Amino acid sequence: MKIKPISSYSKMSKLAAKIVAKQIINKPNTVLGLATGGTPLGMYRELVKLYKKGKLDFSKVTTFNLDEYLGLSPEHPQSYHYYMYENFFNHVNIEEKNIHIPKGDTKDPVQECLNYGREIEKVGGIDLQVLGIGVNGHVGFNEPNINLEAKTHVIQLSNETIRANSRFFKNLDKVPRKAITMGMATIMKSKKIVLMAWGIEKKKPILKVTSGHIATEVPASLLQVHNDVILIVDKKIYPSSTVSNSLSYPEKI
Ligand code: GLP
Repeated sequence: MKIKPISSYSKMSKLAAKIVAKQIINKPNTVLGLATGGTPLGMYRELVKLYKKGKLDFSKVTTFNLDEYLGLSPEHPQSYHYYMYENFFNHVNIEEKNIHIPKGDTKDPVQECLNYGREIEKVGGIDLQVLGIGVNGHVGFNEPNINLEAKTHVIQLSNETIRANSRFFKNLDKVPRKAITMGMATIMKSKKIVLMAWGIEKKKPILKVTSGHIATEVPASLLQVHNDVILIVDKKIYPSSTVSNSLSYPEKI
């Protein structure tokens, strides 16, 4: 894992956007795995800016979102579908047919998961996966557990996640209790992964993710097995000195 401590949210967003941009320039028909939440908002803004300056072309890019709340229609303002169009897809030249987000209002969630997994396999998997991290160490909506699912599946959200994500809803009761998420194997098969963590509330999970220990109770800790992960992290929670002194991760970028 390459660790890049960073001093501002704007620098983190610019660096993540640069990595995505480089990937698209090198491979115009890139398959991107995309995340939602507060963390990647700045990165999407930067990517839109690059597109508007004529530096990026999304016409051949395919995207797969990590997850979606079960029970929310694409028009629901708190759905990840709505978030993605509002913050990104509506502002770039991506083809509608190349956008994939699990259908939160599906009548058959199990079939939807199977279809979603097949679509990802059909394009040969994800080239570059963008990830945020939950306060409990979840990625996508893969929640801490003694068992994790490999493929796209329906998941019961943990109380911690419901509480953390309630900031986007009117109140706690409005937060869906279930979601569809890509599984850990799908995420881990991505050729390259960019993980972003910003804010002091991410200190606990990030220290676990960089600890050298792997536990399904901290799903993001599995990323330590992957050989091409870059963690762009708030300097307040992971100072540069930690990188150079770290025995597990001596590599500085
Ligand atoms: C949600 C998403 C995750 C995201 C996490 C952190 O639970 N399913 O993909 O990484 O929130 O969100 P934030 O960036 O707002 O802290």
